[in-house]
Amino acid sequence: MSLKNKTAIVTGARQGIGKGIVLALVKEGCNIVVSDIVEDDCKKVVEEIEKLGVRGLAVKCDVSKKDEVDNLIKKTIEKFGKLDILVNNAGIYPFKSFMEMTESDWDKVMNVNLKSIFLCSQTAAKEMNSGSKIINISSIAAFVGFEGLVHYCASKGGVNAMVRALALELAQKKINVNVIAPGAIDTPGATSSEEQKKQTISAIPWARMGTSEDIANAVVFLASEKSNYITGQVIVVDGGWTLR
Ligand SMILES: NC(=O)c1ccc[n+]([C@@H]2O[C@H](COP(=O)([O-])OP(=O)(O)OC[C@H]3O[C@@H](n4cnc5c(N)ncnc54)[C@H](O)[C@@H]3O)[C@@H](O)[C@H]2O)c1
Repeated sequence: MSLKNKTAIVTGARQGIGKGIVLALVKEGCNIVVSDIVEDDCKKVVEEIEKLGVRGLAVKCDVSKKDEVDNLIKKTIEKFGKLDILVNNAGIYPFKSFMEMTESDWDKVMNVNLKSIFLCSQTAAKEMNSGSKIINISSIAAFVGFEGLVHYCASKGGVNAMVRALALELAQKKINVNVIAPGAIDTPGATSSEEQKKQTISAIPWARMGTSEDIANAVVFLASEKSNYITGQVIVVDGGWTLR
């Protein structure tokens, strides 16, 4: 499943699932644009991957801002001359009870988790050729409710619904658009107490939290030509959590 000399952008890539995706794509030979809101952290990831023999580029980008997204794609083309794979991974999940949620809490989550997919995918698709891949990280929160995450659940449901329509339009350009919906993944963003972790694990048939690698392995498949006939689909990677 070699992705040698492909160019990939990963958003939200300085840590967690995003960084796991970067490392997995690097193993397949991809050159990577490491993008996040903290530039120094992106540069550290680039230093790390360049030691593994691929080329990297760090670009600061808040995915909810059109001018920064435009700059991300422009810098990518300037450095690598093409874009083959876009992984829309950046996302936030700030807990807030519904009755205390403000309009700005709602807007922030929608902008970072959903509007970003519109901005990044549209700008990227203008540069992409036939055979390119757009992979979006949504969540099982699109299928099951989580208290304190009404805005988040709505945003991730939006991603899944949006991708079905987007995949139809981009089929004309033979660009595959798919979604991975992770379950509970152990990342810096998903901090929880040992007690909460135990409770979560008790709901997972696989009896463990997921890792960034679990998600990254599915990304590698969707980024490869092995998935050429799959588009507009959601792959749930949750150790069986949503089966019950
Ligand atoms: N960890 C989980 O259990 C879990 C479960 C389901 C889905 N997800 C999804 O996976 C993705 C990654 O989550 P994670 O757990 O690795 O989180 P994380 O907080 O560890 O990493 C998210 C990254 O996104 C970046 N980011 C935040 N706002 C941004 C913005 N406006 N522009 C660009 N980058 C921004 C952060 O700086 C961070 O590096 C998210 O979309 C999240 O919703 C995570």
